[in-house]
Amino acid sequence: MPRTFLIDTDTASDDAVALIMALRASDVRVAAITTVAGNVNVDQCTQNALYTVELCGAEVPVYKGADRPLARHHENATWFHGRDGLGDHGFAPRQRKPGPLHGVDAIIETVDANPGLVIVTLGPLTNVALAIAKRPDLAGKVSRCVVMGGAPCCEGNVTPAAEFNIWVDPEAARVVMRSALPVELVGWHLCRGKAVLGDSDIAQVLALNTDRARFAIESNSHARKALKIQTGEDGICLPDPVAMCLALDPSIGQWSSHYVDVETQSELTRGMTVVDRLNVGDDERNHAVWADVLRQPKRKVCWTIDNGRWKDALLAALK
Ligand code: BDR
Ligand code: CA
Repeated sequence: MPRTFLIDTDTASDDAVALIMALRASDVRVAAITTVAGNVNVDQCTQNALYTVELCGAEVPVYKGADRPLARHHENATWFHGRDGLGDHGFAPRQRKPGPLHGVDAIIETVDANPGLVIVTLGPLTNVALAIAKRPDLAGKVSRCVVMGGAPCCEGNVTPAAEFNIWVDPEAARVVMRSALPVELVGWHLCRGKAVLGDSDIAQVLALNTDRARFAIESNSHARKALKIQTGEDGICLPDPVAMCLALDPSIGQWSSHYVDVETQSELTRGMTVVDRLNVGDDERNHAVWADVLRQPKRKVCWTIDNGRWKDALLAALK
């Protein structure tokens, strides 16, 4: 029996590679893809997801979801991924059109129809928060909710405190972290350092000589330049594919469980993922401040990954 996935995505260059990984996994059935405003506007995200599905020759429905965060203006990341999110090379779907449901309703219907499914989120958590607010019981029907987001106990990529997906819609992220969903947090730090695709990794990908491999590298051309400016690292960093790799095979990461909350009030630390790494929330002196968080289960947080296995998984998907 294949596992069933639902993927929520603000499809840009790294999301697209993550979608390919899931669509190509022989033991996974992707029941639905839902899009959300994030890297680019939701219409563009939807076009990018449709293009990727078409490239993989898959028949997975794509549903357009929320066009803005719960309580804030939408801030995009075109400076990183290019104006169209895919490096501005003109990638566009030829035939596919979005499905007839709103993304939030598609999440609800897909979870109802596939109890035990895995949700993988690759963008701001707006759609998932709206679905959970409408139907809190959904949380009990989800076996895993793998979230690419946050910067647990380390630096962010938008502000020193916050990673993009959480920073864009911190209110939604807080709803999800305070829900009964079985969240597994895959932070931005995991795609850095040795996880970045350097020249020799890129040459290996291109040597596969498939449309998917070429697309994975070309669509990330803008992101490569932006990463150099942002961090000084030379190569392609792929946060969403790392998250997908861990959704497909959690044994590639080292995990531990902690209370997690999201800062929504502070100007300085908006969208910070506050991870209780030392489990000091269990201390009575912290019970008042952490009361709402302590009502929820501890979350699995991934701290490191096996970079060799991550890159092998990527190559296998792009063959
Ligand atoms: C996350 O933000 C987006 O730019 C990427 O697609 C990824 O989901 C990394 O911070
Ligand atoms: Ca993303």
